[in-house]
Amino acid sequence: MEVQALAKLNLTLDVLGKRPDGYHDLRMVMQSITLSDTLELADNAGEGLRVESSLHFLPAGEKNLAGKAAVCFYQALGRDVRSLDIRLTKRIPVCAGMAGGSSDAAAVLRGLNELEGNPFTPTELARIGERVGSDVPYCVIGGTALAEGRGEILTPLPALPPCWVVACKPDFPVSTPELFGRIDSCRIRCRPDTEGMLAALESGNLGAVARRMYNVFEDALPDRQRTSMAEIKNVLIQCGALGANMSGSGPTAFGLFDEEEAARQAAQLLGQSYRETFLARTV
Ligand code: C5P
Repeated sequence: MEVQALAKLNLTLDVLGKRPDGYHDLRMVMQSITLSDTLELADNAGEGLRVESSLHFLPAGEKNLAGKAAVCFYQALGRDVRSLDIRLTKRIPVCAGMAGGSSDAAAVLRGLNELEGNPFTPTELARIGERVGSDVPYCVIGGTALAEGRGEILTPLPALPPCWVVACKPDFPVSTPELFGRIDSCRIRCRPDTEGMLAALESGNLGAVARRMYNVFEDALPDRQRTSMAEIKNVLIQCGALGANMSGSGPTAFGLFDEEEAARQAAQLLGQSYRETFLARTV
């Protein structure tokens, strides 16, 4: 079986506070895009669980979120993984804030559920996904959604009016736990207008959505990285993006475009400086 795993973007990301369990309460508006990984799920004649990726530095077996998802799925069915090969063809950039690993995990859950005759409802699958990672429940459902709590409390939202997306990942690495640590040690001065974003989605106004995009992690980046993020966003806006934002804990910046030609030109321009630049559509 072949399954597609879609990348996600954060239209907004707010960190409300640290919780006793060490996680943070979040409030985020999420959006799926056409940039995707492809997964092949196949029987391997009783060889147990094997995970293979087109990117050889990614972990194999249960250490890969796709493998962990398979283990959690069969645990929920009350048995071990007896015979499953997972082959990943990666296109979503890794450690980019686009939920590549979480989306692969969600695709495994959806695929296995279908192969096993749909023992779980989508809501039950999302609950299984919670054990794999905070972004996995959203990736099970996808589309336009509000994610709260650790990321697992989901409210579907009116779909974002269809548009073009240019996503660009600069080369510097970010550590999600480290960025959460930086957020804890400073006062958040500016927050997204999440209510305004929900109203803009309700009215189907793409320009109003794009203008309200905001991510508190951007302010918590070290100076040089924040400057680099601002530069990419500037290029996107100058090329005609209606708005630009950082996704997740970064370092991917993206812009929303209502015109294909402007989006293509932005992708071409940024692609000259940043190898990992992608043109996509919203889903
Ligand atoms: O759940 P997941 O394994 O994807 O989270 C990775 C890390 O991100 C956690 O170990 C934690 O440091 C941080 N995190 C958090 N609050 C969340 C989600 C993630 O602090 N709601």
